[in-house]
Amino acid sequence: LGKEALELIEQAENLDKLNSIRVEYLGKKGKIKNILKTLGKLSPEERKEIGQLANRIKDEIETALKEKEKRLKEEALEQELKKNRIDITLPSAWVEVGSSHPVISTLVEISETFLSMGFSVAEGPEVEKEEYNFDMLNIPKDHPARDMQDTFFLNNGKLLRTHTSPVQIRTMLTRKPPIAVIAPGRVYRKDADPTHSPMFHQIEGLLVDRDVTFRDLKGILKIFLESVFGKDVGIRFRPSYFPFTEPSAEVDISCTVCGGKGCRVCKGTGWLEILGCGMVDPNVFEAVGINPEEYTGFAFGLGVERIAMLKYRINDIRILFENDMRFNHQFKGIR
Ligand code: PHE
Repeated sequence: LGKEALELIEQAENLDKLNSIRVEYLGKKGKIKNILKTLGKLSPEERKEIGQLANRIKDEIETALKEKEKRLKEEALEQELKKNRIDITLPSAWVEVGSSHPVISTLVEISETFLSMGFSVAEGPEVEKEEYNFDMLNIPKDHPARDMQDTFFLNNGKLLRTHTSPVQIRTMLTRKPPIAVIAPGRVYRKDADPTHSPMFHQIEGLLVDRDVTFRDLKGILKIFLESVFGKDVGIRFRPSYFPFTEPSAEVDISCTVCGGKGCRVCKGTGWLEILGCGMVDPNVFEAVGINPEEYTGFAFGLGVERIAMLKYRINDIRILFENDMRFNHQFKGIR
């Protein structure tokens, strides 16, 4: 009986089969139980002998069952692993790598030039008080400069800042000179054509200290423009007007950066307008409580999109905001 059972166990090819063998031999109505039931009819000697034998066979069958069960489980696991084998030499799924937007990488590059010269970053809200965006910048209520920058007015009495210049006011109201800050950020104007977007980015600069002169302004802007456009770029200061600076200037760079004299961008003049600047107007100092007899300063403001467009030779500002991935992906790896 024992041999027969052990053989069957050895041949069992799965756990189900093994289980039925267990029932057949060790179950309540199994073959071993049947033998033990007949023990009562035997003589005491026979009973002892057969009893011991039956128990030994029972132990042997149990051990064999356990061993076989373990082996079958191992085999099943191995099979499972083989079936689900991962081929680590296969190429992985494609993960698209992102890229910095050209406007942002230009903004960061410009900011870093000024940070390296000791300027720090100042911030202000995009929803701004009319007072800071206009009044305290020496732009009175009915001044035509308010029309120059078509303003989005909000119904809470505030407006979307039309330039980053209100950050000059906020900075001077909360800090004492010496001040050397840049203020990068979004600004808004009611404009929309190939070179104007209703939302664009500016970087404001402000330096206030004793004895700051127009020479300092020229020197700083020259360093900045040469670092962005290269040492050979031509730079020209042209007299201009801003209510918050006096004297004021606009800075042009030679159109060598956009394809040379006669290119479409500069309309054949050979020069490109790139930023506005000037010496802080004494009226602005007075509005923020800085003594114009004691301090002087310069300020400048530049359009980031315009510089990005020149740098990357883009002729329509709108493509910067359409988020066509075929455009955006061209700037992969630029910064
Ligand atoms: N705020 C001006 C503009 O948006 C630029 C500017 C800033 C000019 C600072 C002079 C000084 O046009």
